[in-house]
Amino acid sequence: MKGIILAGGSGTRLHPITLSVSKQLMPVYDKPMIYYPLSTLMSAGIQEILIISTPKDLPLFERLLGDGSQLGCSFTYAVQAEPKGLAQAFLLGESFIGNDSVALILGDNIFYGTGFQSTLQNCTNPEGGIIFAYEVQDPERYGVVNFDPSGKATSLEEKPKKPVSKFAVPGIYFYDNEVVFVAKSIVPSARGELEITDVNKVYLEQNKLQVKVLDSGTTWLDTGTFTSLMQAAQFVQVLQDRQGLSIGAIEDVALQMGYINQNQHHKLISLFIKSGYANQ
Ligand code: TTP
Repeated sequence: MKGIILAGGSGTRLHPITLSVSKQLMPVYDKPMIYYPLSTLMSAGIQEILIISTPKDLPLFERLLGDGSQLGCSFTYAVQAEPKGLAQAFLLGESFIGNDSVALILGDNIFYGTGFQSTLQNCTNPEGGIIFAYEVQDPERYGVVNFDPSGKATSLEEKPKKPVSKFAVPGIYFYDNEVVFVAKSIVPSARGELEITDVNKVYLEQNKLQVKVLDSGTTWLDTGTFTSLMQAAQFVQVLQDRQGLSIGAIEDVALQMGYINQNQHHKLISLFIKSGYANQ
């Protein structure tokens, strides 16, 4: 399976912080935001990853992450000229995806949970699409999924004014190769974007969409506002400093997954001794 990180957008809810620098390069405690979604894809077993961002920010991501070989991975890069929606990722990534299945993760979404890694690893060979549902207090900010009493997903709505359920769809999605075809078949929404919700609706109508409810053992944070960015940083700090856990550390995930060996890992983190990042 291939992976795509969507790290463009406008970041208007973080202005003026994001006037000159991409949101996904902002620090979340001790590392750039994109490390978190990158480590999530890597921990799912995905090593070939396309990073999509704006024309001005893409070179900064390349400088930060390189070609991925240092982590036993392969990173490639593509420009999204304008933020025309999440589903555009599959059009921009068409040749990268080739004949494979693909996972898409948003560059400002952070996931953490002890069982989450195995949940993800079970999604990497999907027949159709696999998305998640997570109970939140403010579903109107997200794509919302409704269920019937038996727990079967019945409908999806993008940022509904009056949500009929509290289940938001977090920013990680798994699809079979059909997704390129599906993304080509949808039209821009009223706000001019190719909506991922419209892609998911096509899969739902064809009875090919699995919706997995994430329980409270998994934490999902999005970091698009001042408050949520600060809360995410505090969350990472508390878990790392008090419990000695490492969250979003791409070097550690590469080692744990066997993409690199101890020597390579040591070489990578020895560059960061002074900052304390390497001591986690
Ligand atoms: P959003 O948070 O919906 O949008 P944004 O990042 O532009 O922020 P704001 O609402 O404050 O202006 O985007 C979710 C994620 O998807 C985020 O990581 C940016 C990314 N994105 C793209 O890369 N391209 C796009 O066309 C869109 C809509 C979002």
